[in-house]
Amino acid sequence: MKILITGGTGFIGSHLVKYLSKESHHIVLLTRSISRTSTLNNATMKYIHWDPQMIGEWTDELNDCDMVINLIGKNVFEERWNEKVKQEILNSRIIPTKLLVEAIGRAKHKPSLLISASAVGFYGDRNDEIITEVSSGGNDFLADVVKQWEGAAYEAEKFGVRVATPRIGLVLEKSGGMIGKMLLPFKLFVGGPIGSGKQFLPWVHMDDVVRGILYPIGNKNFRGIYNLVSPNPISMNDFSAIFGKIIHRPSWIPAPNFALQILYGEGAKVILSGQKAIPEKLLAAGYQFSYPELKTAMNNILKT
Ligand SMILES: NC(=O)c1ccc[n+]([C@@H]2O[C@H](COP(=O)([O-])OP(=O)(O)OC[C@H]3O[C@@H](n4cnc5c(N)ncnc54)[C@H](OP(=O)(O)O)[C@@H]3O)[C@@H](O)[C@H]2O)c1
Repeated sequence: MKILITGGTGFIGSHLVKYLSKESHHIVLLTRSISRTSTLNNATMKYIHWDPQMIGEWTDELNDCDMVINLIGKNVFEERWNEKVKQEILNSRIIPTKLLVEAIGRAKHKPSLLISASAVGFYGDRNDEIITEVSSGGNDFLADVVKQWEGAAYEAEKFGVRVATPRIGLVLEKSGGMIGKMLLPFKLFVGGPIGSGKQFLPWVHMDDVVRGILYPIGNKNFRGIYNLVSPNPISMNDFSAIFGKIIHRPSWIPAPNFALQILYGEGAKVILSGQKAIPEKLLAAGYQFSYPELKTAMNNILKT
């Protein structure tokens, strides 16, 4: 199968591409980084330079493509939020997604499936309310970004393309994301819960993120929005306790809210808020999680 991927160089994308390349698919990876394009090409992997803000020659690749996986987006914790950064967070998702859909519309042979990343940020801050795919959306900046982002992806349905949008939770993996950020303070004996500690973390192991993103490929009737989170969300306090126990460090020194606000500005709200999100749709479809429990997930991540 020929699969076109955006964001394939990123935290999730690099794991997903590694997984797919073992399955002998032909992968076309759109990236802004020219340096990667020539040296890494091989028989199954082709890097194509693109400007994700405009239509270009990359659209030719869609003419014989079987599916598209869209993982692009500026990292929401890359820098302190201000109006410019917020605009970049929005534009780096909406514009490329709209362009991809426009290019799909023009393609001679259209892909049958578009999988476009989304996020549990859709739900906003929800305390301990159980959140499923039918729950209402939040009303903060990120929730609004997600609504527009998903809306842009579903435009592809008018071209007869099946669309699936995994609302990804907090991805756990040693090389980055939350664990990457928490590991150092814990190792230095100053780790602990962030914020109130009561907020629920919709965590998910990277193995399940990769398998969950690809789930619609092998399941032809699976489409639409789905929560890509473990079936067992946990409070920040319990998360820290498990983290500390596994690496044999104390876990009670809380990160002060003001420090997060200095670091991330309005973006700190994302870290301080929580969602007790459940993957109801994946479970109903029979998806088996590799890591449904946090302890086994963390043991796998931190001890390998
Ligand atoms: N990681 C998580 O916990 C998580 C949770 C929920 C949702 N998601 C969503 O899942 C997708 C993948 O997440 P990730 O953590 O793998 O993302 P990431 O590593 O931060 O970035 C993915 C890719 O997006 C491109 N990119 C980065 N900044 C950009 C910008 N300003 N403008 C245009 N392109 C930019 C880069 O590709 P090139 O440099 O090759 O162009 C990068 O490799 C994202 O859409 C993210 O919002 C992630």
